[in-house]
Amino acid sequence: MSDTQQKSEKFQPLSAPKGVPDYVPPASATFHAVRSEFVNQAHLAGYQHIELPIFEDTTLFARGVGESTDVVSKEMYTFADRGDRSVTLRPEGTAGVMRSVIEHNLDRGQLPVKLNYYGPFFRYERPQAGRYRQLQQVGVEAIGVDDPLLDVEVIALADRCYRSIGLTGFRLELTSLGDRNCRPAYRQKLQDFLLDLPLDEETRHRAQINPLRVLDDKRPEVQEMTADAPLMLDHLDAECHEHFETVTGALDDLGIDYVINPRMVRGLDYYTKTCFEFVHDGLGAQSGIGGGGRYDGLMAQIGGQDLSGIGFGLGVDRAVLALEAEGVTLDGVDQRVQVYGVGIGPEATKKMAKLIDELRRNGISADMAYGGRGLKGAMKGADRSGAHTALVLGDRELESGEITIKNLENQSQKTAALDAGAIIDAIFIPEDEPAE
Ligand code: HAM
Repeated sequence: MSDTQQKSEKFQPLSAPKGVPDYVPPASATFHAVRSEFVNQAHLAGYQHIELPIFEDTTLFARGVGESTDVVSKEMYTFADRGDRSVTLRPEGTAGVMRSVIEHNLDRGQLPVKLNYYGPFFRYERPQAGRYRQLQQVGVEAIGVDDPLLDVEVIALADRCYRSIGLTGFRLELTSLGDRNCRPAYRQKLQDFLLDLPLDEETRHRAQINPLRVLDDKRPEVQEMTADAPLMLDHLDAECHEHFETVTGALDDLGIDYVINPRMVRGLDYYTKTCFEFVHDGLGAQSGIGGGGRYDGLMAQIGGQDLSGIGFGLGVDRAVLALEAEGVTLDGVDQRVQVYGVGIGPEATKKMAKLIDELRRNGISADMAYGGRGLKGAMKGADRSGAHTALVLGDRELESGEITIKNLENQSQKTAALDAGAIIDAIFIPEDEPAE
């Protein structure tokens, strides 16, 4: 572009891609606090951080999540990189965790391997309230042990995550999807039942490739037709039945409420045995605030040992919306600074920059006015910053060696020596409590 073009052209402002939310201050503080609290709870339960790539070989998701799922067949952001490899922005976290666990032999050590991750995931869905194309999750995976008490740990952890941020208006829905021994016979039975119904072409096709998905059809006429469909829960073999009984019994022992939803269908193919969803009624159509379950065949499917695992993904975007729906505000998430410095004139401003740096070294959050603003403008900046204290330094103060400390909550003023220690004492030690 030539210089003249650059000068004459006025660029149009740009928006974020469709369906991709921004979180900007001050609301971003809640988003950040929710995600941190979920991660904190996962660490309390012994899940260690794993940092994974945002994109992977497309094959990973095709094999891991399942070609017949909407996520893989319709919603992936897949493209060829410059070396003509097909890569995909991760639509979910479990397959990537499994790939990494196998690649780094974590499954050859102590089991279960307990991992925690968070970050953005990408699904080309139709955007609406609470349904985004870039969504944020905090997830955990506990890999290598098929113990129903581990299922309970994972479910209880999700429940604690929500409660720890103050949510109460949600419920836990639970079911068992059986395993490789009992599901094939059930699947056949369900398919036979469905193919006898007068289904439309598309639904008939779905019944052929993924019959369980038909149970999740929200259209009343389909729901009516499938009201008497056989249910997986009634066709569990003895082992899966016992597994499920142990899970529900231990949840009862922990006092965690749940409802059994035998028609629950998860959008990913890898699930076996225990499956669960946390549902919030304040969110309209996108009511799932988190979900997960056990996956018996996934590791082998990705080329590893034949080990089982269980995990969850909690939707951070939806948890934030659920807080809004319940009118809950989080305490202590304010990211605004405590102290704001105002320097008048170049010398005083230079000195202020040094003082502010010293406050920060002492763990006090602090900011200052930049750009050579006059006293009035800079004080406005102090008010807007949300700080409780302003430090004011001009030539007069520089000369006298004393700085003005203004309490922005009650407008009272005092002075202190031009020294970080004296300033900190003056701000934080009450008048009637002499500094040591
Ligand atoms: P998922 O149910 O597909 O599971 O996603 C988990 C959560 O992510 C959902 O409950 C929802 O809160 C949130 N979520 C999903 N899609 C969107 C969207 N388009 N917009 C906003 N939020 C969304 C999984 O991803 C599994 N990997 C969970 C898991 C881990 N299972 C076992 N281990």
